[in-house]
Amino acid sequence: MIIGHLSDLHALAPGRKLMDILDTNALAERAVKRINTLDPAPDFVVVTGDLTHNGGDDETRHARAILDALKPPYLALPGGHDDLSVFNSVFGDAFSNSDAWARDGACKDLEDLRIVFINSLGDGEGPSFSAERARALNAMLCDRPNAPTIVCMHHPPFQCRIPVSTYIDDPDASWALRLGDTLAAHVQVRLVLCGHVHRSMVTAWRGANVIVAPSTCVQVDPNFNDFHANADRSKRNFQLIAEDPSFMLHYWSGEDFISYVLPTRDDYARA
Ligand SMILES: [Fe+2]
Repeated sequence: MIIGHLSDLHALAPGRKLMDILDTNALAERAVKRINTLDPAPDFVVVTGDLTHNGGDDETRHARAILDALKPPYLALPGGHDDLSVFNSVFGDAFSNSDAWARDGACKDLEDLRIVFINSLGDGEGPSFSAERARALNAMLCDRPNAPTIVCMHHPPFQCRIPVSTYIDDPDASWALRLGDTLAAHVQVRLVLCGHVHRSMVTAWRGANVIVAPSTCVQVDPNFNDFHANADRSKRNFQLIAEDPSFMLHYWSGEDFISYVLPTRDDYARA
């Protein structure tokens, strides 16, 4: 079983470029094309948010058109750059209950695996994980306690030491504490897959391996200095890097997961 993992496409309206220079639409299309040429093909693809850059209707519909070209079935979550109501109008039909998924989450069973999708969006750009969402997640995890489970969400719940981390605004990250307490009660949660920070990272957190996917468009420079001292939100405090756009594959052997980062380019010399 192979799960493809795309994140942070930042699609724009057709013909537009990010900062007038970066063709995020073409880069997202390249990621989709790369997945479609994999052999063996992924059995399923998850997309962990920031499908668009500004959340507009035209951008969201274009992101859907790009992702609908995926050959494997997929399910996408919104990120902080997306507009939840627009997302629901364009992508909501993918959820069995499009009205309730943002509150209750959703799950997809693939053979022995369960993939759980949760909404980590708050009212503003930052994340949220309410007691109501925790109860819904707990119910999805109690439902198949013996199924190895992947939880997908947009915001990484740990301190990433990257300037766009949610911990700038909420050093205690109460939303993440509630999420961690919920997950820690369910030993079958093996992976938590996230996006948001445009940097591939792995950590062990509350009994699960949390894996953050790189972006299909542009990456962010990690900040290993005094994180909070550099957390001045009055000015742009992060640096974008035009490293190779990438995505991930998570291979399930039946006993363990093995995760891979692959560039979306496929024109490297081979020998
Ligand atoms: Fe993003």
